[in-house]
Amino acid sequence: MKVFVPTEHFSPVSKFIHIVSAVAFIGALLIMLLAPDPDSFAFGVHQSLGMLVIVLYLARIVWMNWAGKPNALGTKFEKFMAHMAHLALYGILILMPLSGLLIAMAKAKDTVVFGLFTIPGLAERNSGLIDFASGLHSFLEIICYLLVAMHVGAALYHHFILKDETLSRMMGKK
Ligand code: HEM
Ligand code: HEM
Repeated sequence: MKVFVPTEHFSPVSKFIHIVSAVAFIGALLIMLLAPDPDSFAFGVHQSLGMLVIVLYLARIVWMNWAGKPNALGTKFEKFMAHMAHLALYGILILMPLSGLLIAMAKAKDTVVFGLFTIPGLAERNSGLIDFASGLHSFLEIICYLLVAMHVGAALYHHFILKDETLSRMMGKK
């Protein structure tokens, strides 16, 4: 049941979830670009940020169903493209951390989330599952760069060229 449907701006909760998951997602990507050593402290942060993305993803789905969100701005075609792009982003937001978690579990390694709790690995190493999950995680990495670049590019295009409310209603104070 939708309780209230904001028509002009994203609700403060949606804005909060969007910004924290965007920072966590880009942070997880940057860590692997700058310090890809799987035995480092940074790698633990990579995994924790990824797990945070999963939790926020679930919160986002629940909140969006309850509170609704404003329609994309622009022509019918632009709205359709925005819808498709957001669907792809939702896909990557959940598949990227889940495939990462699957690699760690298949390697029979525990995942410690911000030092708060531990997700245990499988009892035994599973090479087939490692290959599958690693392949998926690496493949999705390329899709991530493309999607995030297009998404941020589109937001800036709306703001600086079309000069509409797209960016401010998601990132603004109102
Ligand atoms: C926002 C979510 C995430 C992003 C954007 C992300 C991104 C990446 C990138 C770019 C790499 C380096 C490319 C590669 O070796 O495949 C990588 C590697 C890795 N990530 Fe993630 N990751 C995320 C979440 C997670 C999570 C939640 C875990 C585990 C709990 C995880 C575990 C791993 C592992 C084990 C590797 C090394 C790959 C291997 O051994 O083949 N990742 N990740
Ligand atoms: C600094 C970088 C970012 C900016 C400037 C930005 C900007 C925006 C804006 C303006 C919207 C609203 C679009 C509309 O009204 O139709 C939006 C929505 C959205 N963004 Fe981002 N974004 C950023 C990073 C990210 C990242 C890294 C992800 C995920 C990987 C992401 C996922 C989404 C999703 C799924 C939506 C749909 C609405 C929702 O569920 O909250 N964004 N973003």
